[in-house]
Amino acid sequence: MNRIRIIDSKNHVGEEVQIGAWIANKRSSGKIAFLELRDGSAFFQGVIVKSDVEEEVFQLAKSINQESSVMITGIIQEDSRSKFGYEILVKDIQLIGESHDYPITPKEHGVEFLMDNRHLWLRSSKQHAIMQVRNEIIRATYEFFNKEGFMKIDPPILTGSAAEDTTELFHTEYFDQDAFLSQSGQLYMEAAVMAFGKVFSFGPTFRAEKSKTRRHLIEFWMMEPEMAFTNHEESLVVQENYVAYIVQQVIDNCEQALHTLDRDVETLRKYTQLPYPRISYDDAVTLLQENGFEDLEWGIDFGSPHETFIASQYETPVFIVNYPKAIKAFYMKQHPEREDVVLCADMIAPEGYGEIIGGSEREENYELLKTRIHEFGLKEEDYDWYLDLRKYGSVPHSGFGLGLERTVAWISGTEHVRETIPFPRLLNRIYP
Ligand code: 4AD
Ligand code: MG
Repeated sequence: MNRIRIIDSKNHVGEEVQIGAWIANKRSSGKIAFLELRDGSAFFQGVIVKSDVEEEVFQLAKSINQESSVMITGIIQEDSRSKFGYEILVKDIQLIGESHDYPITPKEHGVEFLMDNRHLWLRSSKQHAIMQVRNEIIRATYEFFNKEGFMKIDPPILTGSAAEDTTELFHTEYFDQDAFLSQSGQLYMEAAVMAFGKVFSFGPTFRAEKSKTRRHLIEFWMMEPEMAFTNHEESLVVQENYVAYIVQQVIDNCEQALHTLDRDVETLRKYTQLPYPRISYDDAVTLLQENGFEDLEWGIDFGSPHETFIASQYETPVFIVNYPKAIKAFYMKQHPEREDVVLCADMIAPEGYGEIIGGSEREENYELLKTRIHEFGLKEEDYDWYLDLRKYGSVPHSGFGLGLERTVAWISGTEHVRETIPFPRLLNRIYP
């Protein structure tokens, strides 16, 4: 017999097939039972008609517990009442693994309870849909950068120095040396870009940030492209093309997931309109001061209320460009006409999801970079190799980092980043 996955039902209408599945939910009346089946690829309905099957099969369908695993035999048919469009008319059910007192019932549960049961919560239809969106963004990222001629390069996870703020480093021992978990692959990607011209990375990054907000994870995944012979302006164009591309791919390939998540596709379509607006940090400060943030002074970093207000002024993501030098990283290139700001941009997502990209042109001048390293109180010897990149054929180069979980949260319409990664690491949680 042909064993299929639920997602492929459309190719097997009228055929008798087998499906290995779990029972997500069930209901029954005297003569008919309905099983909500999930097999990891999708969810759909199994229909068991009492008069059609052996009595024990019908009894099993009526009594089977949530999350028991089964091998279903039946005939695929169209089901115009469901969004999925297909169901299976069940002929036989073979019980594979019993399940007793599954903790996550179809009723409402509190967040902490669900987080304690994350290993099981992942099975629910909403979590399944969010992970599909995540998977599609990863797939589309590889597709986009491969099409654009970028090479995928993997920076190390164990590092000897800080790439971003030194206060947020996870320390560990590396035999008799100190090591840190990577905050960003950027510095290594800058070395790679001098070897390969256009590169991107995708990997886990770690920040020992004492932040407990809907946008912060301790461990999160970042896409980090880096481009040689590319200035800040040119980098912004790549960034907006990339983000519009992943939004479009999710629209095209995650229809069912977006439906499950109740995410309005017309809203998402607006986010594919290019170019995205740019506002300078200076103008953003003025705009905020005129709109209820009177206390905000030039030079202060924006918090989420500021970002949310600015984002609310536009229909698409917006770039805030040229932040004060003092609140940004040591490697950013100074503005050619302004000593106090750097050539950088944050891309702010609509609807309050906050900063999804941080990027900049990099300081390519050896002496200026060395000065910056000292100004930041960093040890020059830790950055000798990084400074070397400015000694041997330095070129203007730019890059950026897109935070995967915030991007998934935004595109899928998920309030909190904790649901956008399979096993979130949060300030007070490393279980399960
Ligand atoms: O703005 P960030 O800190 O930039 C960098 O790390 C650069 N080195 C990237 C580069 O130019 N190659 O981080 C980039 C993005 C942010 O815009 C945000 O989306 C995400 O990473 N991010 C976080 N996501 C979840 N939890 C956190 N604690 C995050 N911190 C940053
Ligand atoms: Mg940032």
